[in-house]
Amino acid sequence: MCGIVGYVGDEEAAPILLDGLRRLEYRGYDSAGVAVHENGGLEIVRAVGKLRNLEKALSDKGLGGTVGIGHTRWATHGRPSEVNAHPHASGPIAVVHNGIIENHLELRAELEADGFTIASDTDTEIVSHLIHRETKAGHDMATAVRRALGHVEGAYAIAVASEAEPRRVVVAKSSSPLVLGVARGATYCASDIPALLPYTNSMVFMEDGEIAVLDEDGFSLSTLRGEPVNRRPRKISWSPVMAEKAGFKHFMLKEIFEQPRALEDTLRGRLDRERADVETAEIGLSEADAKAIRRVILLACGTSHHATIAGRYWLEELAGVPAITELASEFRGRDAVVEEGDLVIAVSQSGETIDTLMAAKEAKERGAKVLAIANVNGSAIPRMADASFYTHAGPEIGVASTKCFIAQLANLLMFSIWLARRRGAMSESEAGELVEGLARIPHLVDERLKTTFDAVSGMVREFSGARDVLFLGRGLSFPMALEGALKLKEISYVHAEGYAAGEMKHGPIALLDAQVPVIVIAPKDRHYERVCSNLEEARAREAKIIGVTTAGDTQTQALCDAFVEVAPTHEALSPFVTVIPLQLYAYCVADHKGTDVDQPRNLAKTVTVE
Ligand code: G6P
Repeated sequence: MCGIVGYVGDEEAAPILLDGLRRLEYRGYDSAGVAVHENGGLEIVRAVGKLRNLEKALSDKGLGGTVGIGHTRWATHGRPSEVNAHPHASGPIAVVHNGIIENHLELRAELEADGFTIASDTDTEIVSHLIHRETKAGHDMATAVRRALGHVEGAYAIAVASEAEPRRVVVAKSSSPLVLGVARGATYCASDIPALLPYTNSMVFMEDGEIAVLDEDGFSLSTLRGEPVNRRPRKISWSPVMAEKAGFKHFMLKEIFEQPRALEDTLRGRLDRERADVETAEIGLSEADAKAIRRVILLACGTSHHATIAGRYWLEELAGVPAITELASEFRGRDAVVEEGDLVIAVSQSGETIDTLMAAKEAKERGAKVLAIANVNGSAIPRMADASFYTHAGPEIGVASTKCFIAQLANLLMFSIWLARRRGAMSESEAGELVEGLARIPHLVDERLKTTFDAVSGMVREFSGARDVLFLGRGLSFPMALEGALKLKEISYVHAEGYAAGEMKHGPIALLDAQVPVIVIAPKDRHYERVCSNLEEARAREAKIIGVTTAGDTQTQALCDAFVEVAPTHEALSPFVTVIPLQLYAYCVADHKGTDVDQPRNLAKTVTVE
């Protein structure tokens, strides 16, 4: 996820671009840059790190041009560095991009064969060369962009500047967001509304497959195929703060609702539906490496640790590989056994958590290969690891992790399927069913988010006064129970325990009475009957039962004081749907109690102390 802006008008462009980028910084902040038309050429200024570094570089330059494009980066391809920062130039062309170009490796080879020199590791630079190649053939900027995008597969919102057309910016979009802003004598574009609100509230939302040419008198919009599109600007009534949260009350709620998107971006280009397989070339593990793995050790902290428990179950059940999970802080300094053939998977949203970093380092020193699963490109854990498999959830602002968790689940499952195929543990038809099911998950999640939110909001008044809450699940629902309890503790300060449903009778059952809500995660899987027995045991102690049930499961729903329905899925995919009501439950209780949802007391987003 990145932020892009563009401006055509008669005021100095650089301060307007910088201001827009500041309002988009929540979309990424590892490097930034602008390209401004200046004395017949394009001046490109880029800087690594926060925007203040770009601001400093720009004030040293003193650009006066009134047309330009800008970018704040959240690295997906290529680590944060000046050469990888946008805009990317090729001849007279400069491009900023938000999204992922899936076929960039293929296009890179093609362009190199055509004599283009590619300076960065990014997928975006490819787009600038593709457009340049078309302008060299005599096309104007808009036609060149249209033709270039004909070669591109993937997600993009781009803004393009050309030295040959100094009073224009061309923009186009597919999957990634892009909005145009119209004012008297000036036209703007940005990834999101907040960047434009100080300048205009007259906006046009671009649709997938559209291209627009911006000049100071407005814009002309058409499809990539060339059909004109007539769309009038809409008046936006948001305040800048509301806009940053896209109208949501808290970042956490926004991020919960971004989960279909986080999943789509994380799965993009990695599911090979034709071959019923997963594409993991980026990890750089060979078939032989896959076969040589004797055990997987999963290391993580907090929410990421809960993702690793699901990962362990998938690795064992799908790929038949022995796997263990370890809290990174417990793995450290206790001489845990690491043997030849062990693969360590270190899972961390931030890629910076000190315990996970140090535990993975210790394992590496003892001879294990380390694979990092992280959301922040170029962060410490991927840097020390032998290989990385990134999640693409975009920056997460709420301290309580939600969209990064679901993206971690996706990567752990994809890796398990990949291993299972290499090790002959999964037939093509089994893999096909799972890959198809996984491809449909973003849609399944999206479809029910709003109704689940409404259902959960409606029930919290009755339960939010509880002092203790128990979450129960078996199999893949057990780590979701742990995660549901952690979320509730973190943001609402209610004491909660996640328990393996079968363990309830070994202790927690003593706590149950009519004051204790028990949230039972009971999807229709192989554990269903036994979970229902545990539900009955809790009910017999007068506990209030909240069921997370498969849609239409009236039998279990009849036993519950309240219930939420989740979509039926392949049994291995249930965590993707069962975790959503649990996140929303924690959110709604916290919001009802009026706690600081996005920055709960005593917690930090990234824990870099031991
Ligand atoms: C902190 C955060 C949690 C997160 C944990 C691990 O405790 O508040 O949301 O799960 O760190 O962070 P990581 O970045 O390694 O996933």
